[in-house]
Amino acid sequence: MQHSSSFSLSLFYLLFLSTTTTSYAHNITQILAKHREFSTFNRYLTLTHLASEINRRQTITVCAVDNAAMDDLLDKHLSIYTLKNVLSLHVFADYFSSKKLHKITNGTTLTATLFQATGEAPGTTGYINITNTKGKKVGFTTEDNNGHFSASFVKSVQEIPYNISVIQISNIIQSSEAEAPVSAPSEIDIIDLMTNKGCKEFAKLLENSKITKTFTDIMENGLTVFCPIDKVVNSFLPKYKNLTKNGQTSLLLYHGIPDYHSLGMLRSKNGFINTMATTKGKNNKYDFSVKNDGDNVKLDTNIVTAKITGTLLDEEPLAVYKIDKVLQPSELFKAQSIINNSEDTAPEPSSGGDDDGDVPADATADKNGAMIMSANGWLMTFILSIGLVFV
Ligand SMILES: *[C@@H]1O[C@H](CO)[C@@H](O)[C@H](O)[C@H]1NC(C)=O
Ligand SMILES: *[C@@H]1O[C@H](CO)[C@@H](O)[C@H](O)[C@H]1NC(C)=O
Ligand SMILES: *[C@@H]1O[C@H](CO)[C@@H](O)[C@H](O)[C@H]1NC(C)=O
Ligand SMILES: *[C@@H]1O[C@H](CO)[C@@H](O)[C@H](O)[C@H]1NC(C)=O
Ligand SMILES: *[C@@H]1O[C@H](CO)[C@@H](O)[C@H](O)[C@H]1NC(C)=O
Ligand SMILES: *[C@@H]1O[C@H](CO)[C@@H](O)[C@H](O)[C@H]1NC(C)=O
Repeated sequence: MQHSSSFSLSLFYLLFLSTTTTSYAHNITQILAKHREFSTFNRYLTLTHLASEINRRQTITVCAVDNAAMDDLLDKHLSIYTLKNVLSLHVFADYFSSKKLHKITNGTTLTATLFQATGEAPGTTGYINITNTKGKKVGFTTEDNNGHFSASFVKSVQEIPYNISVIQISNIIQSSEAEAPVSAPSEIDIIDLMTNKGCKEFAKLLENSKITKTFTDIMENGLTVFCPIDKVVNSFLPKYKNLTKNGQTSLLLYHGIPDYHSLGMLRSKNGFINTMATTKGKNNKYDFSVKNDGDNVKLDTNIVTAKITGTLLDEEPLAVYKIDKVLQPSELFKAQSIINNSEDTAPEPSSGGDDDGDVPADATADKNGAMIMSANGWLMTFILSIGLVFV
């Protein structure tokens, strides 16, 4: 049972600990942590992953509301995805200091929000109308407001010109569009997605190994998957079959990162990144390094260097990219790499067929093997699920 416990440890690790840390110019979580009246708002910025989006951006304004105003919002029992839309309407893609708010040219302006930027907002409903109303008040409302401002400026919380301005507003800005129900990203079927967009062989491996659930379970908290194209998966099959069941699972998990990374985030990241196969043990790092060369993003495992060649989906919290090589972790292929490095770093032989899926000679044998493997894989997932309940 040793592998199952280390495996569940890895799940524990990836579900409850953040595996990647990046430093940014500002940290909204820290800024708001100094003010207890914003603790609920702060917590929901983290839960919806808006905090990392805010930290990543510059020239931004965050409209915080106090705990009482957040309670009113939470009383509506919206799903976390809808809450994300509502809160993203409170993040402006422009810098508004208190002074600037009170000195708007002609007393009124429209500003784009993160809700607009996500593409979730129908039409221009992701814009906020800021108006200097009578009595020197600054009002905030969605565009179609009939002269009604649901929230007004209270005070400045912190200004870091011109990176981030955090202000307090009186209430949540009302928007029926932002509060509309949204479908959960976990309803996205990654197997279907890969199958239809050029990664059907990799999708088959995932499905046969019954670890798809491991991916979908963490999807809503952020997931990035790299799927090798069919041609390279086919030529890799003999090596894959040679691995133990445990090794196969690790290899597949190695193609996922338990966190959302847009292409832009990957481009700005040079360094090691943990994967879903990473466990705490020192011999199970299962990480690889992200390297950027011009616009190309390369993933270097020490055994192979794969290149991102396409995007199947990039919708926070889920990103799926196509890569031109199977990622071979040094934990599984180390011995071979020391004995003969050239074989592994050279381009994969394409004898296994092309993108249209010429069936490799050993496909039948592989199917049988996969079937046996999937039965055990299911059992393992089951044990793990139980394990997680007790964690
Ligand atoms: C604003 O952001 C830039 C870029 O990250 C950073 O270099 C600068 O120090 C920040 N300004 C302040 C006042 O923190
Ligand atoms: C921001 O601060 C919080 C609380 O101190 C910390 O947990 C988090 O890792 C920080 N985020 C970044 C991106 O540094
Ligand atoms: C301010 O109002 C004047 C007159 O209505 C108009 O010409 C001008 O474009 C407005 N400026 C802005 C920034 O909206
Ligand atoms: C903002 O709303 C007010 C009130 O409905 C309206 O008078 C004003 O023209 C709007 N401002 C902009 C820039 O659309
Ligand atoms: C499978 O493993 C055996 C023993 O380690 C090795 O001799 C053989 O070359 C491997 N085959 C492939 C395709 O990697
Ligand atoms: C590594 O393998 C390649 C191809 O199989 C072969 O041509 C080469 O001589 C080998 N190199 C070493 C150092 O064994």
